[in-house]
Amino acid sequence: MTKVITLGQFIIERQADFPYAKGELSRLLRDIGIASKIVNREVNKAGLVDILGETGSVNIQGERVKKLDVYANEQFISALKSGGECCMIASEENEELIFIDSEISSEAKYIVAIDPLDGSSNIDVNVSVGTIFSIYRRRSMDVPVSAEDVLQRGLRQVAAGYVIYGSSTMLVYTTGCGTNGFTLDPSIGEFCLSHPDLKMPQTGTIYSVNEGYYVHFPEGVKKYIKYCQVEDPSTQRPYTSRYVGSAVADIHRSLIKGGIFIYPSSSHVPQGKLRLLYEANPLSFVAEQAGGRASDGYRRILEIKTTAIHQRTPVFIGSAEMVKKAEEFMARYSPRNSPEGSLNDLLVE
Ligand code: AHG
Ligand code: MN
Ligand code: MN
Repeated sequence: MTKVITLGQFIIERQADFPYAKGELSRLLRDIGIASKIVNREVNKAGLVDILGETGSVNIQGERVKKLDVYANEQFISALKSGGECCMIASEENEELIFIDSEISSEAKYIVAIDPLDGSSNIDVNVSVGTIFSIYRRRSMDVPVSAEDVLQRGLRQVAAGYVIYGSSTMLVYTTGCGTNGFTLDPSIGEFCLSHPDLKMPQTGTIYSVNEGYYVHFPEGVKKYIKYCQVEDPSTQRPYTSRYVGSAVADIHRSLIKGGIFIYPSSSHVPQGKLRLLYEANPLSFVAEQAGGRASDGYRRILEIKTTAIHQRTPVFIGSAEMVKKAEEFMARYSPRNSPEGSLNDLLVE
C-alpha cells in the first residue's frame, strides 16, 4: 500500500527544510486548509440549501455578491482571526483592509490577501469555483502593521495557492520551492498529496480567453487568437479553446495539461479585470513555481509595483512557450508606447 501524505503532514515535514521556521507559516497554511474544507462543504450543498441567489448587496468592485461569497469570506476571516498568525487581511469582498488586533495575534507576522470565492457567477450552474490566497510577511515588527505591508510586489510572497472546488476538491500551493497539489478525500476529510512537484508542460494546445470580448481586445491579443486558430500541423494548431469563467479552473487546467489563460486589458476594462494582489500574484507564483510563465503582456506579473489593494492587471498565465509567444504578439502589434500598450504604464514603477 502506498503511503498517504496529508496536507498537515506535508506542511510539517517541509517546515524542517526552513531552519529558522517556528511553525507560524505552517499553522497559517493549516488554518487556510481547514477553512477551505468548511467552504467546500457549503459549495457542495449549494443546490440543496437555500444559499443560492444574491444577497442583494454589491461588492466594492461593483459586482453583485452571491451568498456563498459572503459565507466564504466570513469563514476565511474567522479562521485567520482565531489562528493567531495573521495580523491583516486584504479580501476581494472588503473595500478596506481588515486589521486583526487581539492578544493572540499581537506577535503575528503574516498578512493574507484572499479572493474567498473566485468564479462566483458559476455557483448557480454547478461549475467549478475556487479560493485564491497569497501570504506576505510584514516588513517590520517594530512599527504598526499598515497598508504598506500588503502593498509588496508579488515576488515577496512567502506562500500562495488556490483551492478548486471541482469534480474533486484540490488545494494547490507553493512556498517558493515548487508547487504541490492535494486532493480532498471526503471520506476522511483530509487533503492528501496527489500531485507532488507539479510541472506545467512547457507548451500546450489549449487557449483560454473570453472571446466574446474580442472586439474590445488589443491588437496583439486579437492577432495571437488568430495565430491559435491557424492550421499548422507542426505546432498542433489550430489549438482547442476552453473557457470556464473561473480563473482558478482555467489556470488549474493549464497547469495540468498545458495551455494559456488570458484576461487582457480591453477597451471596456482598460486595466483588465483580475486583481493583482489576490488573483494575479498568487496564481502567477504557483504557475512560475511549476515552470510556467506569468505576464501582463509585457512584463513579469510578480515584478509589478502594487499601489492599491484592489488594483487590476492584465493577465497572461500558462505554459512558458505559449505565454512568450503571446508576449511577442503584444510587443509587435500593441507595443508599450501605443495607445493600447500605454494603458499598462500605470502599472509600472
Ligand atoms: P470573481 O468571481 O472572484 O469576481 O472572479 C471572476 C473572474 C475570474 O475568475 C474569471 O476568469 C473572470 O472573472 C471571468 O470574467 P468574464 O465573465 O468577464 O470572462
Ligand atoms: Mn476572482
Ligand atoms: Mn471572488
